[in-house]
Amino acid sequence: MELPKRPDVPYKELEDIFENSLSQLKIFHILKSSIDLKLYDHLKDYKSFEEISELINIKPILSYYILEILTKLRLVEKNDELYRNSEISNLYLNNDSIYCINKGFVLTTDKVNMWEDLTNTMKGDIKRNDNNHFPLIIQVMGENTISGDLYDVVDLISNLNEFKDSKRFLEIGGGHGFYTIALNRIKPDLEAFVFDLPNVIIETKKYIEKYNSKVKTIAGDFYTDSFGKNFDIIFSSYNPSGKNPDIAKKVYESLNIGGLFITKQNFPNEKEEDNLEELLSNFEWNLTSLTKSKKGKRTFTFKKDLFFKDYLLFLENLGFEILNVYNVIDLSPLAIATINDKIVVAKKTEIKNK
Ligand SMILES: C[S@@+](CC[C@H](N)C(=O)[O-])C[C@H]1O[C@@H](n2cnc3c(N)ncnc32)[C@H](O)[C@@H]1O
Repeated sequence: MELPKRPDVPYKELEDIFENSLSQLKIFHILKSSIDLKLYDHLKDYKSFEEISELINIKPILSYYILEILTKLRLVEKNDELYRNSEISNLYLNNDSIYCINKGFVLTTDKVNMWEDLTNTMKGDIKRNDNNHFPLIIQVMGENTISGDLYDVVDLISNLNEFKDSKRFLEIGGGHGFYTIALNRIKPDLEAFVFDLPNVIIETKKYIEKYNSKVKTIAGDFYTDSFGKNFDIIFSSYNPSGKNPDIAKKVYESLNIGGLFITKQNFPNEKEEDNLEELLSNFEWNLTSLTKSKKGKRTFTFKKDLFFKDYLLFLENLGFEILNVYNVIDLSPLAIATINDKIVVAKKTEIKNK
């Protein structure tokens, strides 16, 4: 039999796709193992790779290469053959730091398991029970919020005259409650509430206690339960009800006239982006479903959600006046956000358009 001749279509293109993706996977696993092995806890001061090898119980040749790779990723600094944490890993990956994000890795690992078994994941139906899923999510979001937009959002809200004059404040889907805890600290005479699912409220209470706060909690489901009445401000950040017209109506009814609805949400462009990152993200969003919140087609969207312009129109028709719209990324270079993350500040007026 003749040897087949080399095809005209270059194999190299395919090999590049495989090699590049495998290389990212290797980096991910280096990161994961370095966290699992608590490497950054050992690198608060300079150590040799031999010392690290003993401390984390791996072969010296492997500790040498892992440290060299992490140096390239700027998570480790090298000086005279000794290694220590860089500023960023010392702050976020060392378990002794109050900013440590390692707990969030539990969620990432969960996601990775889903991807590693993608064939079965796609054929199956991974249903996440909202009551069990969100208590975990909010711990990760709490870590991100403190290192992300917490202080920018709190500054924005606390500088509003309506906030200075407010008496009753409600955060819906508040989870960790950090926004409300921080705002209540600035205005201690505020009667401030966090509304969330019963299992999440158990976690919220732990944060309230940890930070010696007087914030109160309301356990409920925003699709079916009432928020209560007579609030001067209702705040909502990144939650499944954020673009839902029925919930906006409930917010309107729960506010006093002149009260503010401040909502920070990811509003996707009406046209689906045609780039790989967006496609991967939308694909992943559809790998799982939630029991309470019915997901929409695209990342962070849910059934009944309105697009940004339609949502603003809906608020105006309800009787809100849109006072301002901010892009979260413009608030600070340190904010963790995308171009689609917006804060809407709307005031309840007496005039109903519908
Ligand atoms: C993505 S987290 C956002 C947490 C926090 N607001 C933030 O921005 O960091 C969504 C929040 O909405 C809450 N949530 C989801 N479904 C809910 C429901 N049906 N009723 C009440 N809260 C709900 C979750 O428990 C969670 O706290």
